[in-house]
Amino acid sequence: MLHSALINVMVKAARRAGRSLKRDLGEIENLQVSLKGPANFVSLADKRAEQMLLEDLTKARPGYGFIGEEGGAREGQDKTHTWIVDPLDGTTNFLHGIPQFAISIGLQREGTIIAGVIYNPANDELYIAERGKGAFLNDQRLRVAGRRQLGDCVIGCGLPHIGRGDHDLSRREMIEIQNRVAGLRRFGAASLDMAFVAAGRLDGYWERNLQSWDMAAGQIMVREAGGTVSGIEGNDDALTSGNVISGNEAIHAELLKILKPLGK
Ligand code: IPD
Ligand code: CA
Ligand code: CA
Repeated sequence: MLHSALINVMVKAARRAGRSLKRDLGEIENLQVSLKGPANFVSLADKRAEQMLLEDLTKARPGYGFIGEEGGAREGQDKTHTWIVDPLDGTTNFLHGIPQFAISIGLQREGTIIAGVIYNPANDELYIAERGKGAFLNDQRLRVAGRRQLGDCVIGCGLPHIGRGDHDLSRREMIEIQNRVAGLRRFGAASLDMAFVAAGRLDGYWERNLQSWDMAAGQIMVREAGGTVSGIEGNDDALTSGNVISGNEAIHAELLKILKPLGK
């Protein structure tokens, strides 16, 4: 399938960094014996992947700015375009050899995400989206699920790590949602959670306290698959508030109705 030059640049970068992460994943098992070893190793794998992405993306589009989880922000000469990159989303999964992690690349133009690529090198699933051109998983067009009743839905969420976020609020949210849905899931990589919503695997997903690189590519993926994405206030931007609700229009509205008041 033919994609734009921009998407080709993003895919090529994601695949190269993906090969590196996949090799590193293979090493993790050997390191499980040492307690300190794997965490240090993963942190190096993460930084190596970001370095590759920075190199490839800046080489292809020299003026663009770059925000990466591991390296912070770098301004470009072109103030209108910024890459928003998570070189390894789902670090805890990666560290434990769980094949649910991804490279996430979003491109922002004047405040709007115009393209996204999410790549899981463990199973070779490649998600791409470009503004106005749809979302695809390995070249299959994506569409969010059509279920309209929460009781039929499988919903994804995030759980705050130890020492982070509001654990009480998270538990209250889970109780309320769990009481109303067919199934609740916590997969552990926000970018893939959103890709799963785009693919209709999850009917909806919410999480608090994320960063822009967790969601930039996921947001356009869901929207281009016909879904809705917002913050948990409903009128806030997920990318700036760090809180996200996504799903088809009806399920997004149902989740919003339950989650918004809980955060007050
Ligand atoms: C994390 C994952 C996880 C989410 C965390 C994120 P990282 O990203 O997306 O699913 O619950 O809050 O920080 O640290 O693995 O890149
Ligand atoms: Ca992340
Ligand atoms: Ca990360």
